[in-house]
Amino acid sequence: MASNYIAFVLFLLPLLFAGEAAHQKNSIPSIIPGSIISPRTHHKISWPSPSGQFEFGFYAYGHGFAIGIWLVGNNNRNTVIWTANPDDPPVASNAVLAFNQNGLLLIEAEQEKLIANSSLSLTSASMLDSGNFVLYDDSHIAWQSFEHPTDTILGGQVLSAGDRLLSGLSETNHSSGRFQLIMQSDGNLVLYTANNIEDTSKVPYWSSGTHFEQSTNFTYRLFLDSISGVLHIDVENTPSGTQILSIWNAGGVANSTDHNRNGTIYRATLGPNGMLRLYSHDNGDEYGKPKEDYLIWSALRYACDVNFCGFNSFCTTLEGQQPTCRCVPGSVFVDLNEKTHGCFKDYRDGCRDGKENITLYSIDQIENITWYGIAYNEARMSMEECKNSCLEDCYCGAALYQKDKYKSYNVCLKHKLPLEYVRRNIYQEFNTMAFFKVGKSTNTTISATNHDRPTKFQFTNKNIYFQILFLALGLAIFSCVSITISCLYIFKIRILRYKRLRLGEIKGQHGLGDEELTLRVFSYNELKKATNGYKEELGKGGFGAVYKGTLNKGQKLVAVKKLHKLIEEGEKEFRAEMRAIGRTNHKNLVRLMGYCAEDSKRLLVYEYMSNGSLADLLFKQVHRPYWDERVRIAIEVAKGIHYLHEECKNPIIHCDVKPQNILMDDFWTAKISDFGLAKLLMPDQTRTFTRIRGTRGYMAPEWEKNTPITVKTDVYSYGIVLLEIICCRKNLKVDVENVEEIVLSSWVYRCFVHRDLDKLVVGEDVDRKTLENMVKVGLWCIQDEPFLRPSMKSVVLMLEGFTDIASPPCPTSASVCELRRSM
Ligand SMILES: *[C@@H]1O[C@H](CO)[C@@H](O)[C@H](O)[C@H]1NC(C)=O
Ligand SMILES: *[C@@H]1O[C@H](CO)[C@@H](O)[C@H](O)[C@H]1NC(C)=O
Ligand SMILES: *[C@@H]1O[C@H](CO)[C@@H](O)[C@H](O)[C@H]1NC(C)=O
Ligand SMILES: *[C@@H]1O[C@H](CO)[C@@H](O)[C@H](O)[C@H]1NC(C)=O
Ligand SMILES: *[C@@H]1O[C@H](CO)[C@@H](O)[C@H](O)[C@H]1NC(C)=O
Ligand SMILES: *[C@@H]1O[C@H](CO)[C@@H](O)[C@H](O)[C@H]1NC(C)=O
Ligand SMILES: *[C@@H]1O[C@H](CO)[C@@H](O)[C@H](O)[C@H]1NC(C)=O
Ligand SMILES: *[C@@H]1O[C@H](CO)[C@@H](O)[C@H](O)[C@H]1NC(C)=O
Repeated sequence: MASNYIAFVLFLLPLLFAGEAAHQKNSIPSIIPGSIISPRTHHKISWPSPSGQFEFGFYAYGHGFAIGIWLVGNNNRNTVIWTANPDDPPVASNAVLAFNQNGLLLIEAEQEKLIANSSLSLTSASMLDSGNFVLYDDSHIAWQSFEHPTDTILGGQVLSAGDRLLSGLSETNHSSGRFQLIMQSDGNLVLYTANNIEDTSKVPYWSSGTHFEQSTNFTYRLFLDSISGVLHIDVENTPSGTQILSIWNAGGVANSTDHNRNGTIYRATLGPNGMLRLYSHDNGDEYGKPKEDYLIWSALRYACDVNFCGFNSFCTTLEGQQPTCRCVPGSVFVDLNEKTHGCFKDYRDGCRDGKENITLYSIDQIENITWYGIAYNEARMSMEECKNSCLEDCYCGAALYQKDKYKSYNVCLKHKLPLEYVRRNIYQEFNTMAFFKVGKSTNTTISATNHDRPTKFQFTNKNIYFQILFLALGLAIFSCVSITISCLYIFKIRILRYKRLRLGEIKGQHGLGDEELTLRVFSYNELKKATNGYKEELGKGGFGAVYKGTLNKGQKLVAVKKLHKLIEEGEKEFRAEMRAIGRTNHKNLVRLMGYCAEDSKRLLVYEYMSNGSLADLLFKQVHRPYWDERVRIAIEVAKGIHYLHEECKNPIIHCDVKPQNILMDDFWTAKISDFGLAKLLMPDQTRTFTRIRGTRGYMAPEWEKNTPITVKTDVYSYGIVLLEIICCRKNLKVDVENVEEIVLSSWVYRCFVHRDLDKLVVGEDVDRKTLENMVKVGLWCIQDEPFLRPSMKSVVLMLEGFTDIASPPCPTSASVCELRRSM
């Protein structure tokens, strides 16, 4: 009986296992070694995924076939999402792809080629429902198509730091195209034209704006969520391994009854036109609803936002046509067959002794066009003056005439050639006029002068007297003008000579080098006299009191800062420091005019700032300063700090950025003061400061944590100042209506999360986009993690609208934010 039972079980056992195996095959149909596919007739041409939505195999390409993965669409309109070796020519219809223990082997006309390989001994392969084709060694993944993306990532797929997508050449030719999407190891997701990639001076034509410091402790990745359809950049804190923070996201699909969640596939594709787009692919349903692609998100709006045109050229689209490049006036294509390679100017230089021969040129103009780059000259003038100014200037290749962003007047921005990233100015609310210098050939010179001649004066016999009169008058005027010009010229030369003599004197007197020409050494008595015995005190700062004084017999107002005791420092070090400060020269820094170092006395002489400090302006006025003024001041301060950090010979960390240290000159230009002094009190800036530290409220968390003080410490303080500029109130304010408003930074974050920024500028007429951008920049700057704070350069670029700004995460650790949100 028992033996019968055992026999029965033994009989059943193989069947049970067979059933188990069959079941497994059903869920993930394994491809076993020895399986082949081929485009030959009567052969299996592909391996489908269980859902049937994806297939791996041969697809028709060119005059033959290519091997890849595609998303199955309606009526055979498939979407290829991956291609093996895209640059290889198509294979013939007798080709065979075999899966064996070494990988995928392509056999074509006696030639063999490994498409995917592994050092391991492979046991099976699968086309998964996610669109990932996987080779297994037992249960380990030995190779997967998700790790070798071409131009697309699918839901669930990751693009790790350093990885890239490469666009195809065209819709029908999948070989390497002109555009790349790179997940940089600094956290920035960027789009480049392929020929610009390795050139770090180049600017991506699109970026997520999330560039941080590179650190081995943090890894960034791009991830497309297969459930929500959200594309996001995550940062992972490697040592702790747990903290994953999303620092940027795009796309995502709102709940909709139309959406069949079950079969929806998301994909982000870098198209052959350089556009990065996110699509959802609806699988249709059994009631006849077709499979369809929906565009969810696009990194760029217009085809011409992709800056694929070279120097001196720009992209244009004519109705219904592919975008092409066009040269700016005065230039011709470098290569007529490759219009993306840019243009060069096609006129000779007529410059002699610094004077342009204006008879050789004319000016062409184009409306609403702009370009990237910094003008070598910027001045306020009329449109006509701008045009002529460029014509007469040897260096000027093109000039941009436009409204100054923050002032009500127009400025003329002169640029040298070549021009980079020329584009139509479609987003700006005001129009621009661009002038281009164009060479005249002798032929056109004649026609132009004919054209220019005034037609009113048709000389006839009748007005011969007028002719003579005009000639005489003309001659007289001409002589007058020439004499005046000569006089002015001579006068100017005299003045220059005189100035040079004076400078020589000063140099001889003080033995100063070239770079510190402007720095004067004062005696203590001199300054005592200048300040009338330190009578009028302007204010007291962390470093000492400031007094008003006059120089040059009362003609020049100055501010004299009397430093109180410094840590032991010799006169030599002090002088060196003064020289470093004296070398700085920027319109948003208060200029140091001189100093005094006698015995233990240390005094600094600054230019006098007549309009007080930013603190007075923001916190003490009855009326808030106008919004546009505040935006301008915020940018000016950022530029000043940027200069200290990155453009000085030796970077200067301010260590005490606050509204009290930002002064206003006669024209209400913001200037930063007290820079370079922290070093006097603490020579080694990277050590922790003990005696001197920033001002509470503006201090970055590093000060508390004993971590190194870097330029990012100033960025933090700037962030707080920026929020104060936005809201016209101090960071800490006790007399507020709600408790949550006490700390400005958390209140701002709260308002930002609840999309309620209007609360910050009640009753004001502000540009909402600018407000949101400024708030975002402020919140990025005050991140606890120094590496997450942007550099001052990025801050300037973001505030000026040159780069996009991602949504900032909570400035302090996540748990605090959760608390605050639920408060
Ligand atoms: C794709 O374009 C390249 C470069 O023009 C060309 O060499 C190749 O043959 C094309 N391939 C197909 C399939 O058309
Ligand atoms: C096989 O893979 C290795 C790296 O894993 C690579 O270096 C090698 O070139 C590959 N061989 C072929 C034939 O693709
Ligand atoms: C990286 O993490 C380790 C361990 O937590 C820490 O000691 C080190 O200072 C970190 N490095 C940086 C650059 O943050
Ligand atoms: C969207 O759908 C999910 C799951 O079906 C649900 O949990 C969520 O509340 C929905 N969201 C909205 C905004 O309807
Ligand atoms: C979702 O997919 C699962 C597995 O493929 C299937 O069993 C289920 O019926 C699907 N649901 C809908 C609503 O289509
Ligand atoms: C300007 O160029 C023209 C044509 O080449 C020449 O005849 C003339 O002398 C030049 N004038 C000066 C001031 O160089
Ligand atoms: C330039 O831009 C302005 C403002 O957007 C618009 O009014 C004007 O028509 C544009 N001119 C051209 C030639 O496109
Ligand atoms: C001058 O211009 C005319 C018409 O613009 C053209 O036909 C002629 O060939 C040109 N001559 C020279 C010498 O360039």
